Amino acid sequence: MKNGKDYIIFALDFASVHETEKYVNLLKGKVGMFKIGLELFIQSGPDIIRRVKDLSGAGIFLDLKFHDISETVKRVMERVAELEVDLVTVHCSSSQRMLEMAVKGSKYKDIQSIYYKETGEDNLTSGKNKDSEVIQNNGARVVPEYTGAGVNLEYAGTGVLGVTVLTDHDSSVIEASGFKDQYVNDIQALVIKRARMAYSAGCQGVVCSGQEVQLIKSTFGKNFLAVTPGIRPAWSIPQSNSENQQDDQKRITTPAMAIRSGADFIVVGRPIKKASDPVAAARKIADEIDACRENES
Ligand code: C5P
Repeated sequence: MKNGKDYIIFALDFASVHETEKYVNLLKGKVGMFKIGLELFIQSGPDIIRRVKDLSGAGIFLDLKFHDISETVKRVMERVAELEVDLVTVHCSSSQRMLEMAVKGSKYKDIQSIYYKETGEDNLTSGKNKDSEVIQNNGARVVPEYTGAGVNLEYAGTGVLGVTVLTDHDSSVIEASGFKDQYVNDIQALVIKRARMAYSAGCQGVVCSGQEVQLIKSTFGKNFLAVTPGIRPAWSIPQSNSENQQDDQKRITTPAMAIRSGADFIVVGRPIKKASDPVAAARKIADEIDACRENES
């Protein structure tokens, strides 16, 4: 059974391997997964993935938020699949085709092993074309069932998550980016539009704010993962309005609000990283999640 701590993905937003290892050692067994984002990946390269896995045994969420032409994204995803991460992100703000190609690339290893079983050859670059392996069912992409998603399970495939609308965006950012009034006045409509693209492309789920989880779940069903950043426990929100105390996240929720709405995972960075006792902060969040799940059962 999933415990409160298993819902927590800690964001390793660090610029050094040394600091990363310090936090992984502190938090292993206290959170469900570790998130490696652009800062750490650029600083340390792909080797950091193996290092975090070896130190913690936890799942890995590679949050590099790809956005490029479809063919490039597919090829990048093939390399990501070789790294055996559990979750990876692409932006939904591009084309449906890019998302489809991302999913296709992410199945590289599965397809490779299917091909190997069928032919006894271990060489995908020659022989049967792996592109033909994508299954279509009434126009929808069907992908092998994903059972990974951290929680200390063995690696079971790389799940692709579509990033809908970043949690540091509010209406003013949407307006400044040139969106129609319809979306400026209703960010949820934009989130749902993008989530639908991700769903149709065969993504495992989306990254969205806790304010949108309920709508995502009621529209696409409980198996479509909702991973939620912008988490701010009530105790972590500064009481003063002074500017230097506020951070960039706009569409925020507490851990309990996100989990009650149906979030499968919450991404937490600064509320744990900046706490005077990060382990106690992680435990407090896990307890908050356990308490709200007990109240519901
Ligand atoms: O420190 P904080 O809790 O705000 O960290 C949130 C993490 O989640 C960061 O690593 C950020 O890049 C990531 N993220 C986000 N909003 C998204 C997707 C990812 O804040 N929509």
